[in-house]
Amino acid sequence: MLRVLSAAAAVIVASFGIAFAASEAEHPENHPFSFESPVGSYDMAAVQRGFQVYQQVCSTCHSMDHLAYRHLGQEGGPFALYMVRSHETGEMEPHVGKPAHGGTFVDVTENPYVRAIASGVTIVDVDPNSGQLADRPGRISDRFRRPFPNEIAARASNGGAYPVDLSVITSARHGGADYIRSLLIGYDGTSEGTLYHNRYFPGGKIAMPPPLAEGAVPYADGTATTVEQYATDVATFLQWSADPHMEERKRMGFVVLAFLVVLSGLLYLAYKQVWRGESH
Ligand code: HEC
Repeated sequence: MLRVLSAAAAVIVASFGIAFAASEAEHPENHPFSFESPVGSYDMAAVQRGFQVYQQVCSTCHSMDHLAYRHLGQEGGPFALYMVRSHETGEMEPHVGKPAHGGTFVDVTENPYVRAIASGVTIVDVDPNSGQLADRPGRISDRFRRPFPNEIAARASNGGAYPVDLSVITSARHGGADYIRSLLIGYDGTSEGTLYHNRYFPGGKIAMPPPLAEGAVPYADGTATTVEQYATDVATFLQWSADPHMEERKRMGFVVLAFLVVLSGLLYLAYKQVWRGESH
């Protein structure tokens, strides 16, 4: 009996050992993102900065095929434009991001910020006159520019590894935005050949060189330009891109709840009315 027990114990201990060896990756750090609670909303300044980090750093390797430039200026987008009446002058003034009170949404075709972002990008497209591929400035209707024409080219430039499309990456990875943020700060500065040690990547070694360096992306709003801040901002942007209608959905959830509460009250009153005077 004792022998059976000790054999069972040995099996259990051994299987734990295997489990630990197999999952070298650490659990992602839990960051208190603005969008997490049931009433949470996106920190739009962070989404804007995160777009800047994507644009200046990540977009050299990663596509975001689900996004077009015009999405940045849609209602609920990081560069949505509103006209608001100024308290001091009484004049209508432009305001990026949803104002606390009122404001009229400006259609994205009239949004100079989004137009500037799109036209600052060079898109390779078929020239309508020559039929040849040629460069042209981006339009707001264009999808985000792809860094590589196809997967073979992407792998050839990245030591055989494929830089995945980032459109919905926070939904595609266990741990979501926490995982993305942790992955970006999880390098220890050492590498083996073309693989870099990263304590949050399954297997512990990733083909992506550490993409972020302190001060690499200048911020106009005075926010600290640290690797951790960049990682937090770009993770917030990627969460927005994977779930741009979250705020609307949460609002709708509350409307539905309020409706159900009122409906239950009415049903109860109706029940009382119908059974009034009956003994049951
Ligand atoms: C120099 C090219 C390059 C840059 C720049 C780059 N990446 Fe990557 N990235 C890669 C490659 C290659 C992989 C695939 C790694 C692998 O499979 O080992 C990858 C993988 C990833 C993954 C997937 C990890 C997983 O769990 O599979 C995420 C998320 C990611 N990168 C995010 C980013 C973000 C965010 C940025 C910008 C801050 C960025 N990358 C910048 C090349 C790059």
